[in-house]
Order: sequence, then C-alpha cells, then structure tokens
Amino acid sequence: MRTVVIAGGTRGIGRALAARLEDSWNVVALGSADADLSSVKETRALIERLPRRIDALVLSAGRFSPRRIVTAEGFEQTFAIGVLARHLLAEGLRPALERAPRPVILNLCGVGGIRAGRIHWDDPQLTRGYSLLAATMQGARANDLLGAGFAARHPSTSVRYVLYNPLFVDSGMHRYLGRPMRWVIGVLAALFGASPATAAAPLAGLLADPPDAPLTALRRGTPVPSPGSDDAARLYRLLEDLT
Ligand SMILES: NC(=O)c1ccc[n+]([C@@H]2O[C@H](COP(=O)([O-])OP(=O)(O)OC[C@H]3O[C@@H](n4cnc5c(N)ncnc54)[C@H](OP(=O)(O)O)[C@@H]3O)[C@@H](O)[C@H]2O)c1
Repeated sequence: MRTVVIAGGTRGIGRALAARLEDSWNVVALGSADADLSSVKETRALIERLPRRIDALVLSAGRFSPRRIVTAEGFEQTFAIGVLARHLLAEGLRPALERAPRPVILNLCGVGGIRAGRIHWDDPQLTRGYSLLAATMQGARANDLLGAGFAARHPSTSVRYVLYNPLFVDSGMHRYLGRPMRWVIGVLAALFGASPATAAAPLAGLLADPPDAPLTALRRGTPVPSPGSDDAARLYRLLEDLT
C-alpha cells in the first residue's frame, strides 16, 4: 500500500483528502498535536519519526494570523509554518520519497494566482509593517519559489513537485480572523467557496498519477506557467541560513 504524509491533514482540505484516501493509502495525517510545525526543532524531529518510504507528501499546514505572532525560536508564525517547515519537510523527506516508485510532493499554496506576493528580503519576519495580507502574500510567493527551487536543485530526482492553488475553499480557515472579518469571510466562503471534499477530489488524482514534469503549477486543476527559479536560490540560502 502506498503511503501519503499530509502535513495539515487534520482540518480543511488536508482532512478531506485524508478521508478520501484512507481506503486505498496508508495515510499519515498530521496536525499541530502531532508536531508543531512552527518549530524547526519539532519539524526536524518529526522528519525522523516518519516512514522510511513515502509515496506522497502533501504540504497543507498553515495558519492565518491577524496579528504578528513570534515563535519560541524567533520566527514570525505564518512564515515558520507555511514556508520554513515546508522547506524542511520537502528537503528532509526527499530520501524517503526517492525510495518510492513515483513519488510526488503536493504543495497547496498560492501558485501564480497571487501576483502581488513578494518576499520581503530585508525583513522576511515582517518585524516592520506586519499585516495578515503581507504575511499571506509573502507565503504564497515563497511557496512558488520552494517548488521552482526544489526542481532546479534536484534535476535528477524522481520526485515530482506540484504547486496547487485550490482557490476559494470553505475550509473554516477564517476561524483565525477577528470579527467582523470572520463573519464576512465565513458567509462568502459558504456562498462561493468549494467544499473541502470537492477541493480534495482532483488532489487524490494527482497523487495517484503524478505529472511527468518535474514541476507542475495548477490553479484549481488548470495549468498555469511554472514560476521562474530566479529568486529561488536566494530564498534557499535565506532558509538555510535561518535554520
Ligand atoms: N482554504 C482556502 O480557500 C485556500 C485557498 C488557497 C490556498 N489554501 C492553502 O491550502 C492549505 C490548506 O488550507 P485549509 O483551508 O485546508 O487550512 P485549515 O482548514 O486551516 O487547516 C490547516 C491545517 O494546518 C494545521 N496546522 C496549523 N498550524 C499548525 C502547526 N503549528 N503545526 C502543525 N500543523 C498545523 C492544522 O492542524 P491543527 O488544526 O491540528 O492545528 C490543520 O490541519 C493552506 O496552506 C492554505 O494556505 C487554502
């Protein structure tokens, strides 16, 4: 049986995907109670505990925060969970993935769709001018670069990397917002968002039959140009320095 590790598999899209796969895959669905991915130390310890062979890694853990939260290790929380941990998991689990016949990393992120997203190179922890939007946009751009960088750094790996923006999903992620935004987004999500089960359906197909290309970028299933890797090496150096 194939093994899928879903970081962020206890809620929302990740949980719906875990439910969809549970009959045919060995599913390791992880939430913050399993390992706090805002901690580099805990993320590294988690990597050591995971199976030695992994067919698919899903990067779905994330947390919005209207105010700037700093982790015990000194990182801004959105960045720690959504960027640093994803980098560590992809790199740290690459050997386990390469033991599988058709391994794939599926990164749920803001691929290509969030054009205003940028890395604040001079202040990636957003010590100045933090906002939920700035942190979310930076995370979206950084995840695009994580995929581009992974494919560029490991040209001979068998691991396929898929960047996937599910667009608006009624996952309950707005629970982290304050009022009245929580209510407004909640109503909009109920009216216009896809259900987590609907969002998860094409993801299961991608895991079962990964694309041939080393890097694929999809916006709710529609291919979009893969992000260039120009800034990816810079981000890699930044993340390696930080960790
Ligand atoms: N929902 C959307 O409309 C949408 C749109 C575009 C992109 N995305 C992206 O898709 C991904 C999944 O979104 P979602 O809406 O399904 O999210 P969600 O419902 O909020 O689920 C987030 C998951 O992350 C886990 N998590 C949060 N903090 C963690 C921590 N410190 N350590 C370990 N795990 C932690 C949660 O586990 P616990 O609850 O156990 O802490 C949960 O399983 C996110 O990366 C998001 O940016 C979502």
